[in-house]
Amino acid sequence: MDYLTIEGGAKLSGSVTISGSKNAALPVIAATLLSDKDITLENLPNVVDIKTLLKLVEMLGGKVNYHDNHSVTINNRSISSTKAVYEIVSQMRASILVLGPLLARFGECEVSLPGGCAIGQRPIDLHLKALEAMGAVIEIKSGYVKAYAPDGLKGAKIVFDKITVGGSENAIMAAALAHGTTTIINAAKEPEVVQLCEILVDGGVLIEGVGTSEITIEGTGGKPIDFKTPITIIPDRIEAGTYLCAGAITKSSITLKKVNAQHIKASIDKLESMGCQFDISDDEVTIYPPEELISANITTTEYPGFPTDMQAQFMALAIVSKGDTLIEERLFENRFMHVSELNRLGADIWLKGNIAAVHQVDELNGADVMATDLRASSALVLAALIAKGETNIHRIYHLDRGYENLEGKLSALGAKIHRHK
Ligand code: UD1
Repeated sequence: MDYLTIEGGAKLSGSVTISGSKNAALPVIAATLLSDKDITLENLPNVVDIKTLLKLVEMLGGKVNYHDNHSVTINNRSISSTKAVYEIVSQMRASILVLGPLLARFGECEVSLPGGCAIGQRPIDLHLKALEAMGAVIEIKSGYVKAYAPDGLKGAKIVFDKITVGGSENAIMAAALAHGTTTIINAAKEPEVVQLCEILVDGGVLIEGVGTSEITIEGTGGKPIDFKTPITIIPDRIEAGTYLCAGAITKSSITLKKVNAQHIKASIDKLESMGCQFDISDDEVTIYPPEELISANITTTEYPGFPTDMQAQFMALAIVSKGDTLIEERLFENRFMHVSELNRLGADIWLKGNIAAVHQVDELNGADVMATDLRASSALVLAALIAKGETNIHRIYHLDRGYENLEGKLSALGAKIHRHK
């Protein structure tokens, strides 16, 4: 298995180009199942999760023409199967995003139950409730969700008890092809949900309330969507936030290119309260970190609040920030797997329930550590950048799921990082 070796202590400088957003690209790829025409996607991130979902589309009978590492044309005219098998779904939970579009277009589908993952239980009850409200009949059998709507889905009022990104996306895609009007109350407002709505609007679907918690969608009554192509995937706000943290932790000024500053406002605001300064222009952000970061407490919440996907990276910063930091994780019950690994590097972090208390330490020392999930892995990389000596990070397949060419981008900034095959 590949692992990374990082020699800590190098200063970073220069600029890094941010890739397309994995979490925006996944629902966009799923949404192509709502169409029977050619759809070209551009600015896809070259990461494993995207390849996994494209493979699933091909297994369903879709045609994927790969132009280069960042662009494909998909045609889903001749879908021959509506079953998302365990082999794929077990690799990536987000495969559940094909449920809504397949059911809406073909009146039936089967998706393997995603099960739990390293960061918690992650149920899909809200996805299923939304589809049931639209008239779907759902049964769970032999590890699969089997959904039927032989006469098509019907517009409905869907009230989410809890804000769910994937659940909102599934409901929006299903509603786009339903008969009649769907209103989603307490919808997620994440930029990835907004991009999904925008491509549907460009494809002729009437949607009101895009980017708000109440979205109204006029379904096409089963008519496939004629997307406006090419579709360009928005920049990855979590990758961007991670590189800002790389600048902050190594006290290095670096510039992010091809970024949407509005989408990373929560991270920028938090870094400002920790003493960092910024230059922000069009699609570039430059960070100027202080000599010593100041601690700032963090509570993760839904967009536009502080993202759970940045919690682990900011914990790495908290380790060397002046004072104590309290980090409260409100979205995922088990998203602190990185704590014990950070402590192996010399951090002083205590956990009680969903709150971590991080006490400042003077230095970290390189060690062997294990990546446990995608964002936890990037926290280990950040800590390793300032740890004395060498850190070996194992199980980096987690990183490969969501960070494009992490070691290439960090080396270009001056980090001493090496991948062992
Ligand atoms: C998405 C992101 C993930 C991010 C998360 C929260 C993708 C591919 N992944 O995940 O990176 O960390 O949003 O911003 O976009 N829940 C239920 N029942 C459901 C669905 C969710 O109880 O049916 C709960 C979850 O367990 C969690 C909370 O709702 O506690 C939010 O989860 P959700 O927004 O659905 O996360 P994902 O879409 O899976």
